[in-house]
Amino acid sequence: MIDTHAHIYSEEFDTDRGLVIERAQKAGVKKIILPNIDSTSLQAMLLLERDYPEFCYAAIGLHPTSVDEKYEQELKIVESELQQREYIAVGEIGIDLYWDKSFVKEQIIAFQKQVELAIKYNIPVIIHVRDSLKETLKALIPYKDDNLKGIFHSFGGSIDEAKEIFTYGDFYLGINGIVTFKNSKLSEVVKSIGLERIVLETDSPYLTPAPYRGKRNESSYLTIIAQKIAEVLEISYEAVIEQTTKNAFYIFNLNRNR
Ligand code: NI
Repeated sequence: MIDTHAHIYSEEFDTDRGLVIERAQKAGVKKIILPNIDSTSLQAMLLLERDYPEFCYAAIGLHPTSVDEKYEQELKIVESELQQREYIAVGEIGIDLYWDKSFVKEQIIAFQKQVELAIKYNIPVIIHVRDSLKETLKALIPYKDDNLKGIFHSFGGSIDEAKEIFTYGDFYLGINGIVTFKNSKLSEVVKSIGLERIVLETDSPYLTPAPYRGKRNESSYLTIIAQKIAEVLEISYEAVIEQTTKNAFYIFNLNRNR
């Protein structure tokens, strides 16, 4: 299993990060992708990646909720990181109109600039969408023919929205603990889409699956998400793991020697 989205470098894990990773490995997690937030999270993320080579992989990007009047400075840091070393992806990037709409124009510019960086460096994108699918897809129109590859992380939309996303590039949906929530329609979407366009993620420390909802999330809970998807699709747990792992290897080019 690959946890394609976990912020386990964050301070929520400062006291027991090693144990969290041990539990993940025991549960069958083979690799964890670390999406960045902004320049303040960069150091902790890179240290974690350094401590767990071939297990933790850093992405670089400016998160939409960190876009403010200083976003150009932040984008320069993203660009300079990409010039200095190889990153697994550009992320997480996107548009978030749930928390704050005051920088929507800047969010769109930052998103598009970072999509352009992913194209330039030929790496995938990890996209965050919250109350903003229309705006996000509109921002992607200029890049429709650029063979963009990546993940719409924490997907929570409808079947039609999923299908629309797939017309904008080589995109996959990141499915997390939301699929276990009683009030969520995500399992219906998963049932309709199938495994071909899905990857597993926890979004740790957030979005903890039931029955641990409300507690801190961690990568070992990926098993709960995989189990739920297996139930929904009426297939084996192993089949879910096999296909979603294959998808993650493809998206992030994980077979390549680094
Ligand atoms: Ni995230």
